[in-house]
Amino acid sequence: MSATFSVSIIGGGYVGLVTGACFAYLGNKVTIIEVDEQKASSINMGIPPIYEQGLEKILKDTVGNRLTATTSYESVSTSDIVFICVGTPPNNDGSSNLQYIRSAAISIGTSLMNHPGYPVVTVKSTVPPGTCEKIVIPEVLGNSLKTANCVGFCMNPEFLREGRAIEDFLHPDRIVIGSSDKRAETILRTLYTSLNGNVICTSLTAAEMIKYTANAFLATKISFSNEIGNICKKLGVDVYEVMKGVGLDHRIGPHFLNAGAGFGGSCFPKDVSALISLAKEVGEDPILLRSVIEVNEQQPLKMVNLVKKKLGSVKGKKIAILGLAFKDNTDDIRDSRSIPVINALIQDGADVHAYDPMASEHMKTIIPSISYAESVSAALQDADCCLVMTEWPQFSHLSDEFSLMKQPAVILEGRRMLNRDDVEGICW
Ligand code: UDX
Repeated sequence: MSATFSVSIIGGGYVGLVTGACFAYLGNKVTIIEVDEQKASSINMGIPPIYEQGLEKILKDTVGNRLTATTSYESVSTSDIVFICVGTPPNNDGSSNLQYIRSAAISIGTSLMNHPGYPVVTVKSTVPPGTCEKIVIPEVLGNSLKTANCVGFCMNPEFLREGRAIEDFLHPDRIVIGSSDKRAETILRTLYTSLNGNVICTSLTAAEMIKYTANAFLATKISFSNEIGNICKKLGVDVYEVMKGVGLDHRIGPHFLNAGAGFGGSCFPKDVSALISLAKEVGEDPILLRSVIEVNEQQPLKMVNLVKKKLGSVKGKKIAILGLAFKDNTDDIRDSRSIPVINALIQDGADVHAYDPMASEHMKTIIPSISYAESVSAALQDADCCLVMTEWPQFSHLSDEFSLMKQPAVILEGRRMLNRDDVEGICW
């Protein structure tokens, strides 16, 4: 039986809530400190404020005994480990906004003033390399009036995919532990004992860099696949056949080689931009990373050009958008590739009817002017054109529904979903 710890988690969002719920599920006593009172009470009622497969069940099993949510920092004063899981949103120039990291570190420091033991403050948020050394450590120590050997510091990045976060947490490829000293590293390693996965122990700054580099590399694989896809389309070659042959090389691997409308989400665009900003700060010119973003921004426009190639003008034409979420199995629309496509189409006077199994309510808040269909059929009814923009598995089973469209149906894919001859894709 692995040791159990008392753990405080600052931030009950995608990362903090999943991390807290899973550590409670593993037997630890967890307090999630969430500034949003409604979110805190929702968690305490066992109702997840975000959608994550398996989260509701874990909350039901842990809330009230091992898991509590609160707006107070009180639990920090007796916690063995304190995780910082607050957001690091992008500034206008693409750099990371670290205000929430700083305020969490200050609040933690203040709450540690009378801590009787050796708390380990652990950053899980994605932060630019150097943040732990330059911000977290000085703010925590400065506000706790404790000396450096009374508090441990670690950096423990997450590699959770939205929609599969519980699975990724409980079955990690690797556990990265950056630490300020062996004592802190040992405590964090013990916390993770019950999970399998390679444990990589390194410095605080290297751990921060591992996270950025992992996301930037995954984003690079996607933009690389999209660039190859754009070339293959001109050659009349199926990029999916090409990438199948490429991905069988054990040095490359088959994952994240799916060409299409590009990457969205709250991580890849933000983290690549932050890395670009950091590179410039240290006097490097991130040519490759800039092109990863450039290719990604071009892909949705290629989708719109394809519509215009097929329809001529889109003015007054009914266009069905299937998929609004940035990917399947989530209601999250952050940086979804559907957004620039829809904006360009309504700019040119198209009559857009969108359908998504989960994300319509969120999209209504940023694009209220289009129609939101309750079903695929309603979206396709008399449509001049259909765009598949999110890889929802149910879209791959669509068939007869396309006969509802004006004929011959113009079906275009931003994601490779339909196995039909009468379909054209952004890169195929
Ligand atoms: C990503 C990383 O995978 C995860 O490890 C990290 O912790 C957070 O960021 P996530 O943003 O949830 O996770 O989504 P992911 O499943 O990685 O997909 C990101 C985007 O890339 C989606 O828009 C998806 O449609 C797109 N994608 C993914 C491709 O276009 N091609 C691919 O081959 C894979």
